[in-house]
Amino acid sequence: MSTQSNKHYKIAVLAGDGIGPEVMAEAEKVLQVVADKFQFGITLTPALVGGAAIDATGEPLPAATLKLCKQSDAILFGSVGGPKWTGLAPDKQPERGSLLPLRKTFDLFCNLRPGQIYPAFADLSPLHPRVSSLGMDVLCVRELTGGIYFGEKGRTETDAFDTQRYSVREIERIAKVAFEAATKRSNKVTSIDKANVLQTSILWRETVERVAKNYPGVTLEHMYIDNAAMQLIRSPQQFDVLLCDNLFGDILSDEIAAIAGSLGLLPSASLNGSGFGLYEPAGGSAPDIAGLGVANPIAQILSAALMLRYSFGEEDAACAIEQAVQHCLEQHIVTRDINPKSTYGTAAVGAAIVATLRQENQ
Ligand code: IPM
Ligand code: MG
Repeated sequence: MSTQSNKHYKIAVLAGDGIGPEVMAEAEKVLQVVADKFQFGITLTPALVGGAAIDATGEPLPAATLKLCKQSDAILFGSVGGPKWTGLAPDKQPERGSLLPLRKTFDLFCNLRPGQIYPAFADLSPLHPRVSSLGMDVLCVRELTGGIYFGEKGRTETDAFDTQRYSVREIERIAKVAFEAATKRSNKVTSIDKANVLQTSILWRETVERVAKNYPGVTLEHMYIDNAAMQLIRSPQQFDVLLCDNLFGDILSDEIAAIAGSLGLLPSASLNGSGFGLYEPAGGSAPDIAGLGVANPIAQILSAALMLRYSFGEEDAACAIEQAVQHCLEQHIVTRDINPKSTYGTAAVGAAIVATLRQENQ
């Protein structure tokens, strides 16, 4: 079908390793269908990243890949890493050597990681049914380009150090994102820190309090990271938006994913201040099931939906994808991570989502 509008989006497709390429193939099909349906154009250009790029070029993020990303409107990322590359030096490793430079190059300071316990799949959660049956619907807003990840580091034979620094500007801009998000959800922000020990956390807390004044409708609470890690497993339903620095967000977002039950359902977005973003599933490259055609494509497909929403403003197309995914979950068209008895594979789930999108009347 020819597009009637002149909207056209260039997407760098970095499928990576393990299950990355197989789940990416399904996300690409879904994108083609919604582009047709909602009248916009897309160009999907693949490039090497991670272990696949190391094997081909010696680098986890080759210059050609970075160049393509710079020429694109968004990056759709699969997953990187696997046992083959674990022996390499840390900054040459597929994960660290590709994700961290991409985050820094594009100033992707804002990482959004939603996590839900879907009521129909509450038994996927490792939490006691007494807790999981109450559900969970949280959004982890993680600062992604500062803090201990990017501070001064050093190493001698007998010592090592990593430095955590935060500026008011860095804290303000991520806090604003959290409060804005809360106004579209349940109007609550829990800001995570360790203000009983860390100077950066004291500044974090003061700054977040100041930003909160602009959002009188949003309730702000502060919680120490150790307490938050505990409260999340005790009663995750108390949380709405969790505002975290880089390190605490790394830790809590994995905990949230574990509580949700399946990594195969969770997308994520990493954004800068001008709408550019990198979108990737929360789960890893799952080398143990790579190539078997059984990986869950939903997290990759939902990551594509986030890209349409946050980078392109194609809200209707994003919602259509999310509804189609929801429909397939309700029809129990799921891979075996969700239902061990399921006979649906990656391509069958992708095809069901595509078919639902074609049928949906809008
Ligand atoms: C993540 C990952 C990365 C991080 C690693 C691979 C560098 O754990 O995206 O959460 O720590 O940010
Ligand atoms: Mg992590």
